[in-house]
Amino acid sequence: MADFLSAYSIQNWLESAPQGYLMGTEFGHQPDEAEIELITGNPVLREDAIRTTVQLIAGERCALSASSGLINAAPDEGSKRFLATQTLDEARHVEIFTQRLYDLGVPKAGLEDAIKQYANPNLVKFAEILLEKVDRKDFVAGVVGQNIVLEGMAFSVFEMMYAMNQEVNPKFAHTLAGTIADERRHVGFGENRIGSLIKQFPEKRGEVERMQKDLSYFMLATFADAFRNTQTLDELQRLGVERSHGNYQGADLGTLEPEEMESLLADTVLKEFKTRLGRIGIEYQTPARPS
Ligand SMILES: [Fe+2]
Ligand SMILES: [Fe+2]
Repeated sequence: MADFLSAYSIQNWLESAPQGYLMGTEFGHQPDEAEIELITGNPVLREDAIRTTVQLIAGERCALSASSGLINAAPDEGSKRFLATQTLDEARHVEIFTQRLYDLGVPKAGLEDAIKQYANPNLVKFAEILLEKVDRKDFVAGVVGQNIVLEGMAFSVFEMMYAMNQEVNPKFAHTLAGTIADERRHVGFGENRIGSLIKQFPEKRGEVERMQKDLSYFMLATFADAFRNTQTLDELQRLGVERSHGNYQGADLGTLEPEEMESLLADTVLKEFKTRLGRIGIEYQTPARPS
């Protein structure tokens, strides 16, 4: 427990994040970086970027509600303090991705309408299932749902997006890099804290496994929609702009079809769930594949 407390203390958070990798950033990126003109100047690419960013905001708003709600459900002081740092991280994520919508030209008065218009219904359902556990102050299910499932998903999605944007959109890539570093800490907390609690409350297993299966289903359905809706590849081809050749999980993203990217992402996330859940003593349940 001593190690657990120091690794996830507020002191450690201050040194590694605000005074570490976030030093000198403005809304997550370098002050002199801006959204690229290829996107802001093209209606098709811009709408795709807005739709994608709205999903990030929807996920981060869910994480903000969950991490703040779990503070009062936590059984120990160390977890409460860690979740307080996580709450600020998630609020920052909501803020930087909201700022990206403004950078993409969404008017401040139109923010909630844009979120309503573009938020994927499957992702909304995912958030409802998780927040229902949090509202019932179910700490074990809440932390597995948030710190293993939601953040495991976010982590992999951000890594793939980072690989796609690193060369072509440094501003957005830097915003993602800080978020990835935060999510890595959140996932680590979930694994470290929950393993012992699952041993303590083995009767929670069945319910947690069911929740993971439901959440995974809505995650896969969200991925399916996202990769089917995208117009970006066709538009880049029409413009004669070469796709970015970022490397993700050993694959060149510049050569994959959207369906191939979807299965690469889904397989990566599900494999990580399996590993992480196994470590905390939860048996991974295979979700149905959305048609
Ligand atoms: Fe987050
Ligand atoms: Fe997080």
